[in-house]
Amino acid sequence: MDFSLTEEHLMIRDAARDFARTELLPGVIERDKDQHFPKELITKMGDLGFLGMMVDPKYGGGGMDTTSYVLVMEELSKIDASASVIVSVNNSLVCYGLEAYASEEQKEKYLTKLATGESIGAFCLSEPEAGSDATSQRTTAINMGDHYLLNGTKNWITNGSSADYYIVIAQTDKDKAHKGINAFIVEKTWEGFEVGPKEDKLGIRGSDTHSLIFNDVKIPKENRIGEDGFGFKFAMKTLAGGRIGIAAQALGIAAGAYELAKDYSKQRKAFGTEICNHQAIAFKLADMKVNIDASRHLIMHAAWMKDEGMDYNVAGCTAKLFASQTAMDTTIEAVQVHGGNGYVKEYHVERLMRDAKITQIYEGTSEIQKIVISRDLLKN
Ligand code: CAA
Repeated sequence: MDFSLTEEHLMIRDAARDFARTELLPGVIERDKDQHFPKELITKMGDLGFLGMMVDPKYGGGGMDTTSYVLVMEELSKIDASASVIVSVNNSLVCYGLEAYASEEQKEKYLTKLATGESIGAFCLSEPEAGSDATSQRTTAINMGDHYLLNGTKNWITNGSSADYYIVIAQTDKDKAHKGINAFIVEKTWEGFEVGPKEDKLGIRGSDTHSLIFNDVKIPKENRIGEDGFGFKFAMKTLAGGRIGIAAQALGIAAGAYELAKDYSKQRKAFGTEICNHQAIAFKLADMKVNIDASRHLIMHAAWMKDEGMDYNVAGCTAKLFASQTAMDTTIEAVQVHGGNGYVKEYHVERLMRDAKITQIYEGTSEIQKIVISRDLLKN
């Protein structure tokens, strides 16, 4: 096991760091306020190869490993978690799922555009009454012979309005429970598909989160992904990798807040000295650093397992559980280190604190990660 970074890893990490500082930092406060992420920035991320990083170059991807992906996620998230969630969903939940499980025709038609960033994807699993309990799908896709008829509502969908293609999970046979669930590729322009209102969120406010409404949408049969009844497993397998990406997002949020708190503590004076010289502050920084390093190790380990072809499901959940708690704890303490300034938008840490919270909720809440981890440790 060797976690040292190669020349290629360092190059892609530095490219992401540069992009985050020069392109994402200016305007990040306004994007949070206006709840808007400009299309030009998505295009730039696509041009840099951040949107289909692990996809085989024959489908337009970067052919990189998972380590490269988590390095990019960390760097973008230090500055703008709204940008990194777009990257994460497109890479992990859309491109990965299509490359691993879609037919050659589906890959040619959709993956080639999604991997380059020419098109953007969304992953639609959650519903008003099926968040954590993902098997309780109410959205139905009825088999009509040459097509399926899709009806229902999806909630909290990242890239809800900016996506062109949507992977939609739906119940095709209620009697078969999770074995009667399928995943479909749905195009935005199809009749009966409507993008619902945008959510007004606590954090990652630049990213567009919407409900989606499907009203008798006709899905051609060839747009089903995999064998009949594969949809729930498809969602679980896709989310297993997604959780590594969100863990890296949480790590980046934590690391960004830590760096700001450290720099601030070396400048701000109180009681005749820089506040970093007070043990109350120095110990906060030490705690942040320890948890950030531990998160990074868990994430690198999960990424390594994935690249080695090992079963990384529990490792990804472990990394996400720990890193998201670290993001929450670190950002709260970073605000505290900044005192009154920490409560003010221009110092960035209050936004990072708001952004951190979602990492304990999406792609499986912390409680869901504990279900997966505990079931696994008790199985033998
Ligand atoms: N890989 C392959 N198969 C898996 C699997 C995995 N990781 N996890 C479960 N399965 C299979 C099981 O083996 C089982 O199959 P069999 O019946 O053939 O054995 C089947 O799936 C059902 O599994 P469970 O009995 O464990 O199902 P459950 O109802 O107890 O639920 C759960 C399991 C882990 C709690 C699951 O419901 C879950 O992950 N819930 C959270 C959903 C989630 O993460 N949503 C996030 C939405 S997407 C998002 O957030 C994107 C965004 O905005 C950024």
